[in-house]
Amino acid sequence: MSTKLINEVKIKFIETFNEAPLLVFSPGRINLIGEHTDYNEGFVFPAAVDKGIAAAIQKSNSGHCTAIALDLDSTIEFELDKLKPSPEGSWENYVLGVVAEIQKKNIVVGNFNIVFKGDIPGGAGMSSSAALENSVVFGLNELFDLGLTKHDMILISQKAEHNYVGVKCGIMDQYASMFGVENNALHLDCRTVESKPFEINFKDHQLMLINTNVKHSLSDSAYNDRRAVCESISDLLGIKALRDATEADLEKVKDKVAPENYQKALYAIQENKRTLKAAKAIEDADLDTLGTLIYQSHEGLSNKYKVSCDELDFLVEQAKKNKHVLGARMMGGGFGGCTINLVAKTEAKAFADVASQAYKKKFDKDCSVYFVKLSNGTHIVK
Ligand code: GLA
Repeated sequence: MSTKLINEVKIKFIETFNEAPLLVFSPGRINLIGEHTDYNEGFVFPAAVDKGIAAAIQKSNSGHCTAIALDLDSTIEFELDKLKPSPEGSWENYVLGVVAEIQKKNIVVGNFNIVFKGDIPGGAGMSSSAALENSVVFGLNELFDLGLTKHDMILISQKAEHNYVGVKCGIMDQYASMFGVENNALHLDCRTVESKPFEINFKDHQLMLINTNVKHSLSDSAYNDRRAVCESISDLLGIKALRDATEADLEKVKDKVAPENYQKALYAIQENKRTLKAAKAIEDADLDTLGTLIYQSHEGLSNKYKVSCDELDFLVEQAKKNKHVLGARMMGGGFGGCTINLVAKTEAKAFADVASQAYKKKFDKDCSVYFVKLSNGTHIVK
């Protein structure tokens, strides 16, 4: 967590509202493997990181609420009895959506002011959105003593994204951001919404992210389309979610499903299995197997699930050319954002340099390299 970030929101809050705020830090997340499995009630393997959203929040006596997105230099004022999604549909809806979803539970929130700023670039696929949602609900719960559990809070954050932002996301991002454990990744069962922490020590290897710095439009509608395809095929199979299906089950309905949708369901079923295998590989400290599963995940995301893009595929190809990279894949919803790479520590910098130069040459733009620490979830900063 960046102390600078915390200080910036604190100072801005005091300057603007003349009182001391409550400070909340809410992290973004990475995901080792298990992509697009969460809304299929399957398994995922995320971890909270040391980058995220810092928020300064306090009750307000002004008769309305004020929210300031410091990095965008953007301010909104709103009244609690007149909440509706903002048509511009940017950061405002994450804040407004959380408040509206709390109200839907017949819980009364008072007026408040909030200043926030993040150090995850939007579109990086590291879930700055879940970090923002969680920071708001966590701060309000504390300020107004709402009595919400962490589980209640992540469901509120997720609903905000469904109903105010319009993305029918699963629970992975909000969960990882809220429940993160330092130095651990969380093997999360998205049906029971319970996880097992895995202490991550890859010894002479480490995780490295490379951000394509692109976010292709259509990603939200493509996301919702994928979810709808998975749900329609699980309906056809007469099951609750694709988590309950095997490849053999899917084979039986092959004739009734469009070929491209068959491929998508096949990906979701296979990725869920890979996630279980990855947990075993980590337990056995078998990094070669883990790396192979990570490459297979990308292959499925790109060719079957069709949520990758040229920039992501290119960075994964760069990784494959380097024998010190055991695995690489796109991470998050797709259509841009980061790749996650499992790379030998001594070779990480050299690989980052070669991949960055090749990327620049191919796309005439820069990618960005991040090393992240696995960190604790959303918390108050004293
Ligand atoms: C986005 C969503 C998550 C998850 C991933 C893909 O990050 O918010 O719920 O579905 O995409 O794994």
